[in-house]
Amino acid sequence: MKNIVILISGGGSNMAAMVKTSERERWQSRFGARIAAVVSNKADAKGLVFAKERGIATHVLDHKAFPTREAFDDALAALIDPYNTPSHPVLVVLAGFMRILTPGFVERYAGRLTNIHPSLLPAFTGLHTHQRAIDAGCKYAGCTVHLVTGELDHGPILEQAVVPVLPNDTADTLAARVLTQEHVIYPRAIASLLSK
Ligand code: GAR
Repeated sequence: MKNIVILISGGGSNMAAMVKTSERERWQSRFGARIAAVVSNKADAKGLVFAKERGIATHVLDHKAFPTREAFDDALAALIDPYNTPSHPVLVVLAGFMRILTPGFVERYAGRLTNIHPSLLPAFTGLHTHQRAIDAGCKYAGCTVHLVTGELDHGPILEQAVVPVLPNDTADTLAARVLTQEHVIYPRAIASLLSK
């Protein structure tokens, strides 16, 4: 059995897609894996409502309550670690979690910490990826699932999907097109990790 803990900050549509895929594809019987908890750094994250409705444990850890990044990440690890036992090793899935993690946290979950980023990495790390792709005249954009390493939006690539950038695209229309692909590749990447 593996425990999956998903970290969100907002809408949680990637988390919801992961939950629905895990149910449809019966990850529990196929891989011995279950989505054990959803953690948000924001109390009003919409995704928490969906997770609760699905009977998944939810936790809120407000980063503003901590004086430093290290203190927040220590508290986050303390929250995740009960889901991390020898018989139930944890997989930590960042899904729209808009916090930069400290090297200590990344090291603690090295090899079992994943992220989805809304660009074709290594292009456009950081924020405002869709507007930057439009401004750069890109004909294609996309999204990337990768293992998290110490460097922001870097690390071994697990999956990517490509979408066209259309002539009248705004950051919002492009983001929506990319997001539909995120919902496909993130569950696929996690299923592939779980099958190993
Ligand atoms: C997604 O587009 C995800 O790729 C992005 O935030 C959105 C979250 O949507 N993540 C980042 O920008 C991380 N740097 P969701 O909450 O509906 O899954």
